[in-house]
Amino acid sequence: MSILITGAAGYIGSHTCVELLNRGEDIIALDNYVNSCSESLKRVKEITGRSFKEEECDIRDMAKLERIFTENDIDTVIHFAGLKAVGESCVIPLEYYDNNISGTVTMLEIMKKYNVKRLIFSSSATVYGDNKSPMTEDMPTGNVTNPYGRTKFFIEEMLKDLYVSDNDWSIAMLRYFNPIGAHESGRIGEDPNGIPNNLMPRITRIASGKPLDGGQTELTVYGDDYDTPDGTCIRDYIHVVDLAIGHVKAIDYVRNHRGVNAINLGTGKGYSVFELINTFEEATGVKVPYKILPRRMGDLADVYSSPEKAKKVLGFETERDLKKMCEDVWRWVKNNPNGYK
Ligand code: NAD
Ligand code: WQD
Repeated sequence: MSILITGAAGYIGSHTCVELLNRGEDIIALDNYVNSCSESLKRVKEITGRSFKEEECDIRDMAKLERIFTENDIDTVIHFAGLKAVGESCVIPLEYYDNNISGTVTMLEIMKKYNVKRLIFSSSATVYGDNKSPMTEDMPTGNVTNPYGRTKFFIEEMLKDLYVSDNDWSIAMLRYFNPIGAHESGRIGEDPNGIPNNLMPRITRIASGKPLDGGQTELTVYGDDYDTPDGTCIRDYIHVVDLAIGHVKAIDYVRNHRGVNAINLGTGKGYSVFELINTFEEATGVKVPYKILPRRMGDLADVYSSPEKAKKVLGFETERDLKKMCEDVWRWVKNNPNGYK
């Protein structure tokens, strides 16, 4: 039996492949490499000393999926594949709806056809919108302000409908908070295309002496006038290896329970932008010059998880602290100044 991993070559996918292989699972790594390259999978093999099948395939390509499901004995799908840039999703919403939503519908159709009814789906804390933190899974969702976030919300709704129609399904919708960090080996990590938008890759870019958009050599802190202790936004940063381990726990869960369940993957602790910058500087000894700019549109002051359901349902607790996240990401960036290229 194998676990099919869509989006396996990406940031979270590659780290999850490592944890699954280390646990002795057999995997099939599927990706169309729109935001990644096969070098990450080569390094997954090197880290784990294990081999696995790679399939270059778009999740909207029914004919290829048909072949993959015919040739392999797949028991569970972990579905990471999708486009994920919030800003870009406002510029090309149809591509986001097609890739993320149509792609997921195609995956679900093929799974149904081959009677593979265990699914772990990459959802996001973004579905909580402006609820008050700590975010709990029973809060209302859907008050999302961008097309990317709406794709996650719509897919969650679709998965709930699917379960209602057929109680044989076992679906975990994992709501990630802010994944950062890299594998301890320094061999795999986040490799964004072009100039990144997320805070941590922007910090490491400035720390490496590379400019951001418009040639600026200082980090931009978007707003220091929020109603938080130091005025900057608070987020729940989770080490990508902890996040990957959360998927291993979710595999055990979907193999033993039916139903559809939303589960947060976060630490339950929030850190401000200034706290992250300070911790990065302490952990690495590298200064991160910054300047304060006005607030970024759509940002919320305070977003952190309640990790209680993950603890209760999956037996999952994070182990890696913010300093470790900074140390590991810096090792990856220093060892791979051009990412996988
Ligand atoms: P990523 O871009 O590194 O990985 C996604 C992978 O999916 C890439 O390798 C890409 O090439 C592949 N892909 C995209 N469209 C595809 C398609 N049509 N067919 C086949 N492969 C396709 O992103 P990530 O950070 O690893 O995120 C993984 C998942 O987690 C995504 O669904 C993302 O929306 C979700 N998520 C990410 C974050 C985050 O901050 N990184 C937070 C919450 C949720
Ligand atoms: C974190 C904090 C910014 C850049 C996004 C998506 C979310 C999820 C994770 C996928 C915020 C501040 C940032 C900078 C800054 N992805 N910031 N200067 O916005 O919490 O979440 O990524 O699902 O859906 O919305 O993450 O890393 O962009 O920002 O001050 O140069 O850092 O204002 O408070 P965010 P982020």
